[in-house]
Amino acid sequence: MSAEFPYVRPRRLRSTPAMRRLVAQTRLHPAELILPLFVREGVSEPVPISSMPGVVQHTRDTLRRAAVQAAGAGLGGVMLFGVPEVQDAVGSEGTNPDGILQQAIRDVVSEVGDSLVVMSDLCLDEYTDHGHCGVLAADGSVDNDATLARYAEMAVVQADAGVHLVGPSGMMDGQIAVVRRALDEAGHLDTGILAYTAKYASAFYGPFREAVGSSLKGDRKSYQQDPANARESLRELEQDLAEGADMVMVKPAMAYLDVLRQIADASPVPVSAYQVSGEYSMIEAAAANGWIDRERTILETLTSIRRAGAEQILTYWAVEAAAMLR
Ligand code: PBG
Repeated sequence: MSAEFPYVRPRRLRSTPAMRRLVAQTRLHPAELILPLFVREGVSEPVPISSMPGVVQHTRDTLRRAAVQAAGAGLGGVMLFGVPEVQDAVGSEGTNPDGILQQAIRDVVSEVGDSLVVMSDLCLDEYTDHGHCGVLAADGSVDNDATLARYAEMAVVQADAGVHLVGPSGMMDGQIAVVRRALDEAGHLDTGILAYTAKYASAFYGPFREAVGSSLKGDRKSYQQDPANARESLRELEQDLAEGADMVMVKPAMAYLDVLRQIADASPVPVSAYQVSGEYSMIEAAAANGWIDRERTILETLTSIRRAGAEQILTYWAVEAAAMLR
């Protein structure tokens, strides 16, 4: 075959919508999308989150309705975040059986628990007045093992409320083991763990801080991973699996697609990715300026995350994306 003539013409398989649909390697389905939802204590109207246009802090009532809508859209699940009225040094509201997240779990499970997997964030940053994901030692550092004891208690109150999967997101060493043991000892053998396995200290969480009213000063670099490092994610994976993680997650998504691919290749359990607040907001902002085509961009990012190996995607666009996929 002469080199000059294009005997090989890949364009044939790109030529029509039907041909492209036939050969598409990556498909998105609503059932693999998970919608993160915020519920705020003590409000009678949903509160818009200005840095996340289109996303709100729900009241208990509108949260129920959002969960019904998510189920109607055919989503796979919802991930609930509580925004308490009172924060303190140890995040007491996180372990209050009647705290806002626990109430919200009960509401949502009773409303849609048969058709959606209900998940909850298991972390202290929404509940602490200093904004860290754990409790502090005398020197101001985040105390790993004292924090684990708090996570164990949180896991049990969330499971008591009926949640299906807890999502430990604080990046404390040993958090999966401690949560698994606490759940088992409390008789919650069937409550699963979606482990935030590779979670990076990312600027892309910026808008989330407003979403949960977190007043963090400083940063999370002593517990979340350094964006420079990929290999340690495999170590985190090994550890989370050994400690009993049922599913694992990579977060953020788009800036860490290489990490996602490595974890997906190595993981024997389902792999999720979290398209975080900053990923959402930057696309919303660019689209609002008319700089990019919003819907195409949303679907392209979700496709790229799926292609890189995520089997589930947490995204603030879950309901809208499900509608686009119809
Ligand atoms: C911790 C937690 C965070 C997010 C989810 N769980 C914030 C953080 O680790 O700083 C970020 C989610 C997002 O940005 O959309 N509770």
